Amino acid sequence: MDEIRITGGRPLSGTVSVQGSKNAALPMMAASLLHRGVSVLKRCPKIADVFCMEGILKELGACTWWEGHDLYMDCTHADGKEISCVFTGKMRSSVILLGALLGRGGSGCLGYPGGCVIGRRPIDLHLYALRKLGAEIAEGPFSISASCRGLMGAEILFPNISVGATEQGILGAVLANGETCLKNCAREPEIKWLCRYLRGMGADIRGDGGDCIYIRGVEGLKGGEMEVPPDRIVAGTYLCACAATRGKIVLENPPDGELDAFLEVYRKMGGQYKGKSGKLIADASGVGNPIPFLETKVYPGFPTDLQSPLMAVLATISGESCIRESIFEARFKAAAELNRMGAGITVEGHDARIAGGAPLYGSTVYAEELRGGAALVIAALAARGETVVRGYSYICRGYEHICEDLTALGGIIMKDTGTNFYEKNSKSIKPAED
Ligand code: UD1
Repeated sequence: MDEIRITGGRPLSGTVSVQGSKNAALPMMAASLLHRGVSVLKRCPKIADVFCMEGILKELGACTWWEGHDLYMDCTHADGKEISCVFTGKMRSSVILLGALLGRGGSGCLGYPGGCVIGRRPIDLHLYALRKLGAEIAEGPFSISASCRGLMGAEILFPNISVGATEQGILGAVLANGETCLKNCAREPEIKWLCRYLRGMGADIRGDGGDCIYIRGVEGLKGGEMEVPPDRIVAGTYLCACAATRGKIVLENPPDGELDAFLEVYRKMGGQYKGKSGKLIADASGVGNPIPFLETKVYPGFPTDLQSPLMAVLATISGESCIRESIFEARFKAAAELNRMGAGITVEGHDARIAGGAPLYGSTVYAEELRGGAALVIAALAARGETVVRGYSYICRGYEHICEDLTALGGIIMKDTGTNFYEKNSKSIKPAED
């Protein structure tokens, strides 16, 4: 069974380490295709989406292997051109490989990325960027084919901000002929990490982190090597679990300055935190203030990926809160499931109103997507009694060891295998520092 069982009601307490970032690792893996040789990502998270991207690289002819958490990718012979819909249907972000395929070998073909439960998620901005760089793109009924006689630098003004399309433009431009200026770029930290990785490979990129990125195409790139940064969304998820249970936790390897918008909300709810010796120490025992209005925004605003986890926290706080989702049109799927646990959430268009304060109780709920699934786990930790969270595999797309981590913090979680992580790992529980 694809489910976990959580017995709630205990404040979380202890120390966990934050895994490497999914959204940073995936574009770096795509970038590795741009070098005919070995690249390595250290501290790479072992999660389903990374394994899926690894599967694609292998299908293209790469040889990959792991040494602990270091992922080696030998792309010497990765000259395949086609990525089947078996992969693109599973993982939408595989679309960023199109720019890398064009940069490497001048052509590529991939199945359409599947529709997604959080919204339509078109790829028009990705194709716009590649066309501007000189690619000819044919959109067939089942797949997209792209080819070029060498990409050419260009000025590209994105009509809307997109993380993935910005990455696509960067991956296409680094080996293009001439200079590229990308305008109205996403400023998410993952863009900076990708550019840092590419610069280490020899790319000439400036301006990342701002809304204009300048790239001078180079003749070739060498192998990449970088440590994958900590996952800011995983860190935020664990802080939400701490807040929902009014716990006290310590995060080792926290993201550096990438969670400010979230931490501001955390403080407004009554939580406290401080950074000490490279750790983030959080005390959520005083959490109890609703958030009258919050809107998800592009970075540095409040991240859409933490909207559902925060909704679970707000359900535990007396007084009405409201969240407006402004990035994706259908990202309140978790609300109905949280309501099965007594959450009292009403969704109207882009707004979710959370009545807040009624006790949450254990129930059987269904994860339909990654972050919504994490929200259900958070609510379950705060609820009275046992909750069965089905669709656990969605959660595994982005969280490497959420059950083990939350168990180390004192949560009571069992996988369907019958493993009680609390009993198994109780010796490793460390007290919270303050
Ligand atoms: C990335 C993240 C995801 C995060 C999101 C927003 C990865 C693997 N995923 O997704 O976790 O929630 O950023 O921070 O890094 N859009 C278009 N046309 C396009 C592309 C996007 O209209 O061609 C729209 C989308 O539908 C959405 C908005 O732009 O409404 C933002 O999406 P985007 O920033 O592209 O998100 P992703 O890169 O897919």
